[in-house]
Amino acid sequence: MSSPLIRVENVHKSYLMGKEAVPALRGVTLDIEAGDFVCLMGPSGSGKTTLLNIVGGLDEPGRGHVIIDGENVVSLPENQLARLRLTKLGFVFQNYNLLANFTARENVEAPMVLARSGSRARRERASRLLERVGLSDRDRHYPSELSGGQQQRVAIARALANDPPILIGDEITGDLDSETGFAIMELMTSLNREGMTIVFVTHDPRMAEFASRLINIQDGKILNEETPA
Ligand SMILES: Nc1ncnc2c1ncn2[C@@H]1O[C@H](COP(=O)(O)OP(=O)(O)OP(=O)(O)O)[C@@H](O)[C@H]1O
Ligand SMILES: [Mg+2]
Repeated sequence: MSSPLIRVENVHKSYLMGKEAVPALRGVTLDIEAGDFVCLMGPSGSGKTTLLNIVGGLDEPGRGHVIIDGENVVSLPENQLARLRLTKLGFVFQNYNLLANFTARENVEAPMVLARSGSRARRERASRLLERVGLSDRDRHYPSELSGGQQQRVAIARALANDPPILIGDEITGDLDSETGFAIMELMTSLNREGMTIVFVTHDPRMAEFASRLINIQDGKILNEETPA
């Protein structure tokens, strides 16, 4: 039997507030297979962002393990963790997190610079990715010269820059009107059909319906799993 692309094993996480430990995750175990399209839902404060950040190696669990593509993220030295994040994971956030002084194209090329791709390969790939998200004609625009939906498309193209197998999104449609949000989810769906493994958080049940697995989180634990309609 082959192991899952992502394995989350009994992950606990508490944050220290003064002298008090605030539990954010209380024993989460979850397997995600290559090609899964997973939605995490749950009340505010239930631990969704904490779980995404730990899966993505942006935060460390207090206890437990996260194994991505056979590598134990928790015990990796910092340089190998950075490499894993750069090549295996793409991140998309609610507020886009684009670099304000970089054009759309430069934003998409940035992770390729970090991965030391050559300039010609970077240019070609950025062109293809901007085309993929429907923004070929906006490549020289700065984020402030783009609409919210366009900025999120640039952020998705940037997340795909180093061709990672996994895309992680935290409320990526949270700041968008519903029509633009649906267009973003349709883009995610076509990426998933092409083989991308996607894990995202939303508060919007209409966006959750795009997923093939719906995992409900409550009080830092998995409450249950459903198959969306
Ligand atoms: N950096 C931090 N320091 C202290 N406590 C934190 C920190 N980050 C999160 N928490 C706490 O951990 C718990 C889980 O937070 P988390 O951000 O994961 O929730 P969430 O499910 O993403 O909520 P939302 O839907 O509002 O984004 C909350 O009780 C929160 O207050
Ligand atoms: Mg959150």
